[in-house]
Amino acid sequence: MPEARAFISARALPRRSHDRALEIIGKGKTKVAYALDERVVLKVGPPDRIAKQARRLRRLERHGIPVARVILSGDGWLIQERCELLDVPDGVTDHLGDVALARGFFVHDLHRRNIGWLRGQWVILDCGALGRRRTKRGLAPVQA
Ligand SMILES: Nc1ncnc2c1ncn2[C@@H]1O[C@H](COP(=O)(O)OP(=O)(O)OP(=O)(O)O)[C@@H](O)[C@H]1O
Ligand SMILES: [Mg+2]
Repeated sequence: MPEARAFISARALPRRSHDRALEIIGKGKTKVAYALDERVVLKVGPPDRIAKQARRLRRLERHGIPVARVILSGDGWLIQERCELLDVPDGVTDHLGDVALARGFFVHDLHRRNIGWLRGQWVILDCGALGRRRTKRGLAPVQA
């Protein structure tokens, strides 16, 4: 991961990133998240899954939906803002889904393990496919 290494050096992230095993902060069905420091994580997984994750999160970000931003991505890895992993209260998942829907997206696989706390708000750190929905101006997505 030469680009990831360049990022680590440029940001003066701890050398342990190169030298020692990184701390694992999360494991999903396909991806493993490692702490680079308090601010950023490195995620590693099957290249197609990583590529999809990066693409979806960037798309949501462009539409103003709260996400943990993907900073850099490559073949089978990405670097992402690190969230706090707190207990996600009831209603947060639905709320984020509604925010996305209001901006035209139905977010699949939005569950507690895919939500984190970042800069004072709940954000999506991972999701499934994005369904395009017409916004409220057009046919209402759920009510239609
Ligand atoms: N940016 C992040 N900040 C903090 N923790 C994270 C971050 N990204 C992932 N994690 C942790 O790592 C776990 C797995 O990451 P992610 O959801 O991206 O992988 P996954 O394999 O798609 O998971 P699943 O398939 O179970 O949804 C998350 O549930 C979370 O606990
Ligand atoms: Mg996940």
